Amino acid sequence: MKVLSVVGARPQFVKLAPLAEVLTSAGDVEHVIVHTGQHYDAAMSDVFFEDLRIPAPDVNLGVGSGSHGAQTGAMLSALDAVLDEHRPDWTLVYGDTNSTIAAALAAVKLHLPVAHVEAGLRSFNRRMPEEHNRVLADHAADLLFAPTEVAMGHLAREGLADRAILTGDVMADVCFRVRDAVRGRPVELPESVDPARPYLVATIHRADNTDDETRLREIASVLRGLSLPVVLLAHPRLVARASTFGVDLTGGALHTTTPLAYPQMVRVVMGSAGVVTDSGGLQKEAFLLGVPCTTIRPETEWVETLDDGWNILDPDLTRVCEIAARRAPTEVRAQPFGDGHAAAKVLEALRERSA
Ligand code: UD1
Repeated sequence: MKVLSVVGARPQFVKLAPLAEVLTSAGDVEHVIVHTGQHYDAAMSDVFFEDLRIPAPDVNLGVGSGSHGAQTGAMLSALDAVLDEHRPDWTLVYGDTNSTIAAALAAVKLHLPVAHVEAGLRSFNRRMPEEHNRVLADHAADLLFAPTEVAMGHLAREGLADRAILTGDVMADVCFRVRDAVRGRPVELPESVDPARPYLVATIHRADNTDDETRLREIASVLRGLSLPVVLLAHPRLVARASTFGVDLTGGALHTTTPLAYPQMVRVVMGSAGVVTDSGGLQKEAFLLGVPCTTIRPETEWVETLDDGWNILDPDLTRVCEIAARRAPTEVRAQPFGDGHAAAKVLEALRERSA
């Protein structure tokens, strides 16, 4: 069986890692990795391949940044030749980025079977580019790997139940594996933060939070005023917008640093008193690692994280000061994201369904 994975953005490298491992160790699967080049900085791309032991991409389309149309269009046109050359039994697309929709569309138009890893997620917020990417990728794909029961429900409501399989979440696979590997390692924080004392971890990168000057200024000001030191892992989009608007990402509680490699990020979150974020992945990683999360968004597609108050939504920034460093809930956490063996179930389903 020949499987071709298309990835391009940071969260997709994380999702690819457990799949690359099971596909390689299967012995009889040829796995071709195509990187669209959506993320190209070493800290946003290379370190993930190195740290998560993902084989180097076979092809890099080098598409880079651009408007949604220009970026997605460039991927779409470059993918035709690559897919045509390899004619894989399965094209695997991951998550909800512009790389996901480009690859799903390119493959389905060439009548090549497509499977979507992390299918069925919905925020129901049509302002999010990711919401369109998810919905369209799910409807284009032949096989849908849903991480949760909630995702299975969304797919059923859209008439896609017969293409959907509940596998659990491949991000839980990698998160548990890395958690066990980094436990006991020192926490790497900016020099200005004492790792022996409580601290918070923050990330902000969604367009709705970064691209409006008033909104971004307010977020920076609220983070600056939190009661514990805040280690802000700054995505390039945040750094670029803050610099354009003249918004200061330092001062008060704020200690800004570069994005971290995945193992370091897991270790820093494990050692933290709480996470403040607008990232989908980090909300879930906080939950999996048993750390309370405050989400600066009006909704979440990972609704399971809201149970018992592990994750609290605070779109208006009215509660974050009071709740960011709250104690972890005492209730035993459910395991809505599976047992850490989702990638093996994906491989099994690919085998069963390949002609
Ligand atoms: C993309 C995904 C988002 C995901 C995020 C993770 C889409 C629509 N969005 O958003 O779902 O949560 O990745 O990070 O696909 N940049 C760099 N270096 C890089 C990459 C980006 O400097 O390596 C800067 C560029 O200025 C670029 C901006 O960041 O214009 C935004 O990058 P882009 O890939 O368009 O989207 P993300 O915001 O990263």
